[in-house]
Amino acid sequence: MSTIVDFLGSDHRACDDLFASAEVAVAQKNWDSARSLFERFQTAMAHHLAMEEEVLFPAFEARTGMSSGPTQVMRMEHEQMRGLLQEMASAVTSADENRYLGLSETLNMLMQQHNLKEENMLYPMSDQVLGGERDGLIRSMEAIAP
Ligand SMILES: [Fe+2]
Ligand SMILES: [Fe+2]
Repeated sequence: MSTIVDFLGSDHRACDDLFASAEVAVAQKNWDSARSLFERFQTAMAHHLAMEEEVLFPAFEARTGMSSGPTQVMRMEHEQMRGLLQEMASAVTSADENRYLGLSETLNMLMQQHNLKEENMLYPMSDQVLGGERDGLIRSMEAIAP
């Protein structure tokens, strides 16, 4: 079984790859491909955020008693990401390259800072405090529908 750091860290990488592919397609104004890549990116992000909000964060909060700490900040940043994703969806639908690329730059900055905080703090802390629960939690995250 892997660690939370490995499992969710590699999912960050998978989301980043889709983000980059969608952005290339938009920059090339290859709209059919941009729309389908963006849709895959948005689905992958929704799945990632759900794994954290529905499984990891509640377990972390229960184990540490910290419900207004780091997980609350992460939840707030997830909401900002969802807002940007929605605006990007409308930009890709209306084939608005400039709007999409402006939004994607903002999302990328937010996402990279967020992911670093998770990979350097929240995930390692989770691996530490969750102990024996960890394998079961990873299975529960895998079971969340994409
Ligand atoms: Fe997150
Ligand atoms: Fe994450």
